[in-house]
Amino acid sequence: MKIGILTSGGDCPGLNAVIRGTVLKGIKVHGHEFVGFRDGWRGVVEGDVMDLPRQSVRGISRQGGTILGTSRTNPFDGDGGPEVIKTHLERLGIQAIIAIGGEGTLAAAKRLTDAGLKIVGVPKTVDNDLEATDYTFGFDTAVHIATEAIDRLRTTGESHHRCMIAEVMGRNAGWIALHAGIASGAHAILIPEQQVSIGQITSWVDKAHERGRAPLVVVAEGFVTSGMQSPHSIRGMDTFGRPRLGGIADQLAPEIEAFTGIETRATTLGHIQRGGVPSAFDRVLATRLGMAAIDAVVDGRWGTMVSLSGTEINHVEFEAALGNLKTVPQHRYDEAAILFG
Ligand code: F6P
Repeated sequence: MKIGILTSGGDCPGLNAVIRGTVLKGIKVHGHEFVGFRDGWRGVVEGDVMDLPRQSVRGISRQGGTILGTSRTNPFDGDGGPEVIKTHLERLGIQAIIAIGGEGTLAAAKRLTDAGLKIVGVPKTVDNDLEATDYTFGFDTAVHIATEAIDRLRTTGESHHRCMIAEVMGRNAGWIALHAGIASGAHAILIPEQQVSIGQITSWVDKAHERGRAPLVVVAEGFVTSGMQSPHSIRGMDTFGRPRLGGIADQLAPEIEAFTGIETRATTLGHIQRGGVPSAFDRVLATRLGMAAIDAVVDGRWGTMVSLSGTEINHVEFEAALGNLKTVPQHRYDEAAILFG
């Protein structure tokens, strides 16, 4: 069988390990042949592919990004749609697709499966906010990068007796902020799931300062204070019509400084969190997911995605991952909040 693989949406560390796991098991165990669609659904809609022989995946599990390229193309936009895609697949002799992507990718994959295409999904989001899987690859790496950066902010903050704010990714869910914040011993962790007033934030900052500490605040990009209507966004919309986030730390810094009188600096980590080599945990998870995805293709489990449940890899329907986001539950926030201030 000839199988096409695509990576779609924002990139994240571990994508190449999924590709390698799929291709190696597919060739060694099942005797299949692989091609990669270039730049996510764009390559599918335009029939733009590259061969993926065994040597093309050599050593790539430790490589960041994706060797296939990615985009936020919606396969139903413009000249896309199931009929166009079917024509390309027939011409190229591709019998099945493995789609590696987040909620938008999996939603599109579901619609295409309903229209008769043979697709298996692999969940991907650095934010770790997909339902139906305990963890997504890339998240562990992002937490490591953020924690390392925040540790560095702490030493310069302590030298200058400043309050330091670190802004991390997390559009709708504060998992990266929560984990990196706990790991780095933050005095406040601000996440999209919990609205907090400026008064509360400054009281945590003051408490830490009174104990002679350099206050450290970790904020997710999607956080809103109780005075805000929506997340901070001044860079327009992305191709999915979602506001481009980023900059809440810069907004909070002067407010905290004005309220507390403590000199405050903001740092936004941005795409550094998604770049570079994946952690060992992410390489292993991504490899296992990739191998399970090719098994799902062999078993004809169309319309399903692979997922992590505890330490086991399972198969779930696309629907299980769509609709509801996996946000930080109240008890996880309450547990972290004991350490604030
Ligand atoms: O969805 C993952 C994510 O990293 C979000 O945390 C962030 O808001 C967004 O992608 C950034 O997307 P882009 O790469 O298009 O700037």
